[in-house]
Amino acid sequence: MLSWDDFDDKEKIKEPVLAEKNLAEKKTDQVLEPSEVGKASQEKSMLSDLDSLDLEAGRAELEGASARVDVSEKKMINSRADVNQLVPFKYDWAWQKYLDGSANHWMPQEINMTADVALWKNQNGLTEDERRIVMRNLGFFSTADSLVANNIVLSVYKHITNPECRQYLLRQALEEAIHTHAYQYVIESLGMDEGEIFNMYKEIPSVAKKAAWALPFTKSLSDQSFETGTEENDKILLRNLIAFYCVLEGIFFYCGFTQILSMGNRNKMTGTAEQFQYILRDESMHVNFGIDMINQIKLENPHLWDEEMQKEAQTMILQGTQLEIEYAEDTMPKGILGMNSEMMAEYLRFIANRRLTQIGLEEAFPNASNPFPWMSEIMDLRKEKNFFETRVIEYQTGGALNWD
Ligand SMILES: [Fe+2]
Ligand SMILES: [Fe+2]
Repeated sequence: MLSWDDFDDKEKIKEPVLAEKNLAEKKTDQVLEPSEVGKASQEKSMLSDLDSLDLEAGRAELEGASARVDVSEKKMINSRADVNQLVPFKYDWAWQKYLDGSANHWMPQEINMTADVALWKNQNGLTEDERRIVMRNLGFFSTADSLVANNIVLSVYKHITNPECRQYLLRQALEEAIHTHAYQYVIESLGMDEGEIFNMYKEIPSVAKKAAWALPFTKSLSDQSFETGTEENDKILLRNLIAFYCVLEGIFFYCGFTQILSMGNRNKMTGTAEQFQYILRDESMHVNFGIDMINQIKLENPHLWDEEMQKEAQTMILQGTQLEIEYAEDTMPKGILGMNSEMMAEYLRFIANRRLTQIGLEEAFPNASNPFPWMSEIMDLRKEKNFFETRVIEYQTGGALNWD
């Protein structure tokens, strides 16, 4: 740990100051080299700008219109309040999720992969279908988490003009990096062909389609010249949030999670399944945070949530559900691990209903039921609450997994 006792006072003297001091000393007793004179005057002119620093101009740049941020000035998008001033909080749900996410911090190396390595290397350890499921999911997730991280950093972050939401987005970006790390860690531990796994999003149609579906929603926002503030562009941002939070993280992850966790339930690939459990816990919160953001933006900008936009949101969720059902069929050509693609399709319709109602739309599959109640127990859909329903308190479990 850093101690102030270790801090050497002499180190406080900045280099340029030292150079000037040396110069002054030298002036008294010896003739200076022309290069030394040049260096000192260069340093002096570099620092002279500090004397004329315009504090007012800097402040205006930082604060927008007001001197101190009043909570009423805070807005999800197009806010003029200073994004560098975290408090006073307006959106407690965002700050709470940041705290909850931080309390759940974990790292992939903490999980023992020994049993997985032995099983994977044993020729008779897993069936061909089971191996396909592990490979396909690592292929899909390794790309998807990277897409989500890039979407946050390069497309979304700039346009969400609220510091407590940005604080959570920074936390989420870190968690996405940890998820990508987890897949890489599993791939490396099992000695898989990294090129094959990391290129699946280009080479395997059911994986490629999901990535291709999401990409256009991030592309226009990542354009440096894109700015919110017009109805058209604010809708582009809202579409991006629906695509990434409700569909990519909210639907595209669910077939894979269910398959890998089902494997773990059967005592196979238990280390990989544990990694996915930690990831699923993070993802539940990402989805809830995204849905809170979407609903808050709708609340503050009701004109964006017109009939056309509602129709588009519904279409996006239905398209995502269809792609995920195709993924289920591709990864489970026949029954496996106590499930089949038809059961998965039913589960996905059940999840789609939930995503639709979470953003205020009607269920599309009124009779859909959950064929995997054990999944609900693991991640507990009842605990998958967002601010508009109730506060999440179940996530306060420190760093350890605790599904009780
Ligand atoms: Fe993730
Ligand atoms: Fe995520």
